[in-house]
Parts: sequence; C-alpha cells; structure tokens
Amino acid sequence: MSKNYHEKIEKSAGWLAILTVVAISFGTLVEITPLMFIKETTEPVDGLKPYTALQMEGRDIFIREGCTNCHSQMIRPFRHEVERYGHYSVAGESIWEHPFLWGSKRTGPDLARVGGRYSDDWHYAHLMDPRSVVPQSNMPGYPWLDENVLDGKLTAKKLETFRSFGVPYTDEDIAGAEAAVKGKKEIEALIAYLQSLGTALK
Ligand code: HEC
Repeated sequence: MSKNYHEKIEKSAGWLAILTVVAISFGTLVEITPLMFIKETTEPVDGLKPYTALQMEGRDIFIREGCTNCHSQMIRPFRHEVERYGHYSVAGESIWEHPFLWGSKRTGPDLARVGGRYSDDWHYAHLMDPRSVVPQSNMPGYPWLDENVLDGKLTAKKLETFRSFGVPYTDEDIAGAEAAVKGKKEIEALIAYLQSLGTALK
C-alpha cells in the first residue's frame, strides 16, 4: 500500500467527497457551536416584550401579504446601513421570532427599526395608497386591510404556540387574546406590529 495517503484520497472520488464534508462540518461546528452558549445570542435584550395579541395578528398579516418579498428586517453592521436605519440588529432582539423575518430582498427599505419612525396616520395613508405620501413609491397599496375584520378565533392558539417555544406569555395574555383583537381591522393590527419593530434595543 502506498504511503502517499494524500494522493490516494485525491484520486478516490468517494473518499474525497466524504473527507471534504467532514472538513466543512468541522469548520461549521467551530463557528456555530459557541453561538449557542454566548449570552448575547441566547438571551433577549433588556426591555424586549413579546408581541401583544394585536401585534401578533399584524405579524401574520405581514407574512401573508408577502411584505418580506420587498422588505428585510436586518440592519447589517455597516456604516451606511447604521446611518440610514439606526443601530445594527442584534441577536437578542430576534430571540422570540418564530420564524424570524430577517429576509434579504430590499426593493423597499429595511424595516427592522421602523417602529416609531412615522405616525399611525402616516402608516394608514401609506398602506392604503403609498403614492399619497411618497409620490415616487412603487409599493403596492393594501386597501383591503381596511375592510377585513379580525375575529380573533386563532389568536390565543398563536400565543400558546409561541409560549411553547419559550416566549413568556402569561395565562392572562392568552385568555384575553381573542377579546384584544376581535372586531379590529387588519390594518390596525399591521400598524401595531410595524410600530413595535426594533423599539426594544435602547
Ligand atoms: C413590491 C415591493 C413592496 C412590497 C410588496 C411592499 N413594499 Fe413597503 N415599500 C416598498 C418601497 C419601494 C418603499 C419605499 C417607498 C415608500 O415609502 O413607499 C416601501 C416603503 C415601506 C415603508 C416605509 C419605510 C421607511 O422607512 O420609509 C413601510 C413601513 C412599508 N413599506 C411597509 C410595507 C408593508 C407592511 C408591506 C406589506 C403589507 C409592504 N411594505 C410591501 C416596496 C414594497
């Protein structure tokens, strides 16, 4: 048997494939494993609050309407991003996100810190008809959100599911969830969600 193992491996497609996977897996483990134990990445930032029932419904509307196709929620730690959007996103802000909506497509601006940037009235006008407030906008309008009314039938279930993932909802939150959203318009829920984005980090 030849002593030149390196040559042997390079000439055997099977071994080369297997050992390449082993090498890459090792690198991945070294990068990822520590993140599971560093407090900064496993604990919520101070002041992080679980979504209220109404914000939770708004988040689901955000997902349903495909807002993520044009909007990311992840400010990268680059100067041009931080100057435009605010402090870069940190892991402790996303800890209760299931699934997270970081996204990668930016037809429109990043929304990770849009909470509090505009008034509720601005969001209302913008969602109904974006060109009424931003004439050059190519964002579609969502006027049906002002007609659709929430019945809240599944809201408690949603909070319960999130609690099973470790989000600290209380029994009262869950018991009051349906009443908190029932009869509200979808657009109100979506605006409540948008106004909460990125506001926890001080
Ligand atoms: C086809 C792409 C597209 C989709 C889909 C889209 N947007 Fe936009 N959005 C944009 C563009 C472009 C802008 C920038 C112009 C403007 O303000 O209207 C924008 C701006 C915004 C802003 C203002 C952000 C800021 O910092 O000025 C908010 C808030 C927003 N969008 C929310 C939403 C929500 C909520 C949805 C889903 C209901 C959505 N967008 C869907 C393209 C999109």
